[in-house]
Order: sequence, then C-alpha cells, then structure tokens
Amino acid sequence: MDQNELLQKIFSLLSEYIQQDTKKPFLEYKSPKELTDILQLDRENTEGDFSRLIGWVEQYLNFGIRSNHPGFVNRMWAGANLPSMIGELVTAVSNTSACTYESAPVSTLMENYMLGQMLQLVGYKSGEGQMTTGSSNANMIAMMVARNRCNDHIKTQGLARCPRLVAFVNGNAHYSMDKAANILGIGTENLIKVDYNERGEMLIEDLVEKLDQCLDDSAVPFFVAATAGTTVRGAYDPIEPLIALKKKYGFWLHVDGAWGGAAIMSDRLRQKYLKGLDESNSFTCDFHKMLGSSLMCNFLLINRSKNTLQNVLAGGDGSYLFRNCEEDDVIDLGTRSLQCGRRVDALKWFLDWKYYGKEGFGKRIERYLELIETAEKIVAETEELEFVSPRVSFNLCFRYLPKHGDINTFNQQLRTRLYTKGRTLVGLAFIKEKLTMRLLICNQTIDEQEVQRFFDDLLAEARLLEANSGN
Ligand SMILES: Cc1ncc(COP(=O)(O)O)c(C=O)c1O
Repeated sequence: MDQNELLQKIFSLLSEYIQQDTKKPFLEYKSPKELTDILQLDRENTEGDFSRLIGWVEQYLNFGIRSNHPGFVNRMWAGANLPSMIGELVTAVSNTSACTYESAPVSTLMENYMLGQMLQLVGYKSGEGQMTTGSSNANMIAMMVARNRCNDHIKTQGLARCPRLVAFVNGNAHYSMDKAANILGIGTENLIKVDYNERGEMLIEDLVEKLDQCLDDSAVPFFVAATAGTTVRGAYDPIEPLIALKKKYGFWLHVDGAWGGAAIMSDRLRQKYLKGLDESNSFTCDFHKMLGSSLMCNFLLINRSKNTLQNVLAGGDGSYLFRNCEEDDVIDLGTRSLQCGRRVDALKWFLDWKYYGKEGFGKRIERYLELIETAEKIVAETEELEFVSPRVSFNLCFRYLPKHGDINTFNQQLRTRLYTKGRTLVGLAFIKEKLTMRLLICNQTIDEQEVQRFFDDLLAEARLLEANSGN
C-alpha cells in the first residue's frame, strides 16, 4: 500500500464514521482488560507497512466514544463542526508551529484577525488577546497578569517581598483556579471561595465581607473571577455589581466564560447573562465547547491593553527564534505566549467563524437553550425525577429517586449501566452531598425527539435496575 492508497483508505473510513448510523450505540463498551486484548498494543512494529496501521485506526474509531452521537451528553463539547475538522486535517498535514510569522504566516494573520473580531464582539476597547491551550491555561494567564500588576518587581524578584495576595472566586468555580493559585505562588489557601445562592451565583454581600476582611488583614485583594456558566450548574455570576466593586477595591476582574461565554453570540442571551462584560478586565471562552470547534480552541482577551501579555509572559532569550519586524506591524505570537511551540488552532477557528458567523452561532446556542428547557419540562413532569438545583442556563441537574436504598449509589449505578450498554453518557457531579446527573446539550445531532429518547432510556433502565435490586 502506498501513501496515496493509505490516505484514500483513511478518508473513506472517516467519511463513513462521520455519517454513522445513530441507531447504533454511541459506544461499543469493552472493559480495560477486554480492550487491551483486542488492541494488542505490543504487536511487532509494522516496519514501513502502512496497511498494517489501518487495523489500529479502525479499532480506534470502533471502540472509542462517538462524541457526535446524540447519546453523548456528557461533556461541554460534542462532535466537531465540519469546517473546523477540515482545519484540523490541514493543520496536521502541513505541520508547523504558530509561534512566529516566518513559520506560520497565514495562521498568524488569521489568529490576529480572529482576536480582533472577538475584541470587537465583546466590546473591549483597544485590547489584545491570544489563543491558549484552553480555559484552564487562560484563567492562569489572567491571574498572572493581575498578579504582576500588583508590583513592578514580581516578574524579576518573585513574591518574596510582596504582601499576601488574595484571589476570590465563586465556591463553584472551576478547579483550574486552584491550580493557577498553586502554580503562580499565590497558594490555594489564598484563593477564597465566595458563597453562592441556591442558583449557584456568587453572593456579592459575601464577597464584600471577604474583601473587607482581606484588607483588615493587610492583604491585597488582587483578583476576582466571575464565572460565566459554572461547570456543574451553569450559573452566571453577576458582572455588573462586580464592576462597581472593582472600582472601589482596585482588583482585576476576570470573566471565565469557558462554557457560558458563548452567550456573546446571541444579543438576547448576552443581555440576559453577560451584562457588563465589556467593562471587565479579561475574558476567556472556549470555542471548542458550546460553539463546536475541534478540541482545543480557546481565546483569552485583555481589555484596554497593548503589550501586557508580552510584558508579563515573555522571558529569557528568544532571539534564536523571534524576528519581529516592526515595519510589518506583525508580532510573533510566541512572544506573548507561555509556550514555545504553539499548535495552529487559528485555521479551524477562522473556518468555523467564516462558515457560521455570529448569527449562526447565536442561533445554535439559542436552540441549545430551547432543548434544555424541553428537558427541564420532562423532569418537572416525571414523578421519579427531581431537580438537584434549579436550571439557570444550559445545564440541567437532576436525579432519579428510587423507592428504596441510597439515592447516590442508585444514580451512580444507573449512569454506569447506561454507559456500558452504549445508550448514553451523561455527566455526574456532586452538589453538596447529592450526586446529580448533569445534562448538557451542545450536540448538534440532538433534537426534541432525542431529548425524549434520553429520558425514556434513563427511566426504562432505572426501572429495570430497581426491579433487579429487588426494590
Ligand atoms: C467554567 C470552566 N472554566 C474553565 C474550564 C477549563 O477549560 P479547559 O478544559 O479548556 O481547560 C472549564 C472546563 O470545563 C469550565 O467549565
């Protein structure tokens, strides 16, 4: 088999895979032991024989999760947009690094163009930005920018001569904030978790109390992150009151819109969930989540800033690499990144944007909201199901109430059975002591019928499980 035949074979496998039959399970489940036996990973090397690689490619596709199947409602992403898939393929084939203009001229211009589009959309004035490896990284960079702003010498001398720096987040904020506090030398105990209401939104009164306490302790409240769409409940912290507090206390206000930041695409939903966003200091959003670009596709924006990212993030001697040419006005993107080699994520992002645009993405997320409202109605009308938290946006947290036995154990077992039978994979998380199913719809193959099918499957399996457990 030569290179051309191999490529043709792979394209035909991929094309078949994309047009999958949704009647089939989303997963042909095998235990780790069974799968190890099937894959035979230690089979001898293929010694230049392409045809012997195809078996592994087929196995990868056959025994992996089909994230573009309507049964996949587990994560904040699902099957990718076709334009971005094409972008990924082209990126893989052309294989370069997006750190300099000379190694990635087209993607450098595309990334700059897209960042400009996002700055305009968000309403940041004369701002800057970068694509990062995801919102965890973007949250950390935002915290780093805020940290270095506290004192001119932090970059060169570290934190040794600084007062205690304290950051504040919603008690339900993503764990990447804890990681950032650890990595940046802030310390996880100096990441203060603010109380939230029954909808999961940060309580501003509690934040004020904690900010005042921080000042009483002669510490510096340097960073507050509002979460726009918390991971489990989908809560949006109120940005407008935080803007007012930012003016009073002088902290950096970052908005973590990894999941719910996609609401910028719909004027109606932006008005509902993101009022005041344009006055925040920084904002991140994952295009690979609700908006469907291939993993990973993230941007971080900084408001009213030109060279902050470069000043904070650049370090050491990069002269062997960077060739910034002032008269061309194109900066090597690697100079304002924490990475050296940078994956080209801009092409897929650009292609998706050109294909769907704000209007297409706006319609898409409005549709996701409609579908989750349908799901909410089904839970409300089904006696055996209860809400674990009120729905506030795109996330639905509910559980099954068995007639007997421990509710958490039952829901855990129910979810595992649905998964191993290849029916559906739904998220699972704790809200306080309650284990909750977290339904997320960000999968374009889902419609009202599929939502109904999800609950029919879940209820049928739950009844079977109750019967089997002798309840
Ligand atoms: C609110 C929030 N922030 C940050 C992240 C981290 O995003 P990433 O997976 O892109 O690092 C997530 C991931 O689910 C999230 O839900």
